[in-house]
Amino acid sequence: MRILSGVQPTGKLHLGNYFGAIRQHLELQDEPGNQCFYFIADYHALTTVHQPEVLRENIREVALTYLALGLDPKRTVFYRQSDLPEVTELTWMLASVTGMGLIERAHSYKDKVGRGIKPSLGLFYYPVLMAADILIVKGEVVPVGQDQVQHLEMAQDMAGYFNSSFGTEALVRPEWRLSATPKVPGTDGHKMSKSYDNTISIFSEGKALKKSVMGIVTKPIDLGQPLPTEDDNVLGLYSLFAKPEEIQQMEADYRTGSIGYGEAKKRLLQKIDSHFAPARERRRVLSKQPSYLEDVLADGAKRAREVAEQTMQECREACGLSRSI
Ligand code: ADP
Ligand code: TRP
Repeated sequence: MRILSGVQPTGKLHLGNYFGAIRQHLELQDEPGNQCFYFIADYHALTTVHQPEVLRENIREVALTYLALGLDPKRTVFYRQSDLPEVTELTWMLASVTGMGLIERAHSYKDKVGRGIKPSLGLFYYPVLMAADILIVKGEVVPVGQDQVQHLEMAQDMAGYFNSSFGTEALVRPEWRLSATPKVPGTDGHKMSKSYDNTISIFSEGKALKKSVMGIVTKPIDLGQPLPTEDDNVLGLYSLFAKPEEIQQMEADYRTGSIGYGEAKKRLLQKIDSHFAPARERRRVLSKQPSYLEDVLADGAKRAREVAEQTMQECREACGLSRSI
């Protein structure tokens, strides 16, 4: 099966990215018969990041994060989106057969504009670029979090429009795949997101990690009183890390009131800290090898481009475009 997914380099990756997307990406890499393509969506990030130094640093951050968490660049094709200029070529072809109505329905554009991001043409066009990312490598399954499902529906529609407009089967209809935890809550109880300033970073440690965990919003309940086991931010996050018997124990302690939020947060802190300790160590080692990162991305780009070029030849042929050089 051909698997594809991307993450935008817009900041430090957090627990929502990990449990909603990255963990699933890494598990799929281990399933026999899968061919995974994962990329850093730097063209997408241009819609919001306009400082070149920041973008470069964010790209490095995503690369380090994936490699430290266990992406194996031998089995998985790992690349930067902008190393595949063919993606923008396919974007235009898709745009030419896509009705305005489809794109006008995009929630994420409205959400982003609602949050104060400049309503640029690029932001509006985002779902078309995303469809091209997927279709250019003929991704069959796209593991993502809940918030990306509408974009996947649009990519399915665009593949259909292209194929029927040009009487071809060059593009493959992709299916999305949600993780078991497609909507991880942030420290304020809303969806964890870089844009809401409610994240806990995967590689946070020491004082910074403690500050984020102790800052999780909880209900004002006196010590010794039972704590609610439904819709509780601390318990929700703890459940992502803990074993079933540990979750049962925490729930029992919540019900009897034998635990307060201070203690519950300490248990959560300990879980996060130990879960990512080995990856933090790998990250430290990798961050001293910048040329290794570059080599991995260059090799990924080469392999992804071979596939992309093949798809583009089929698409150009289907549209009646041919190249003189
Ligand atoms: P952010 O909202 O922080 O900007 P992105 O949009 O870059 O995150 O998301 C990258 C991937 O992580 C996507 O597949 C997205 O669905 C997933 N993801 C992001 N936040 C969460 C969350 N809180 N819960 C589950 N998945 C998430
Ligand atoms: N839009 C995705 C996000 O914000 C990132 C992304 C870009 C992506 N292109 C993609 C995800 C293709 C899956 C497939 O998280």
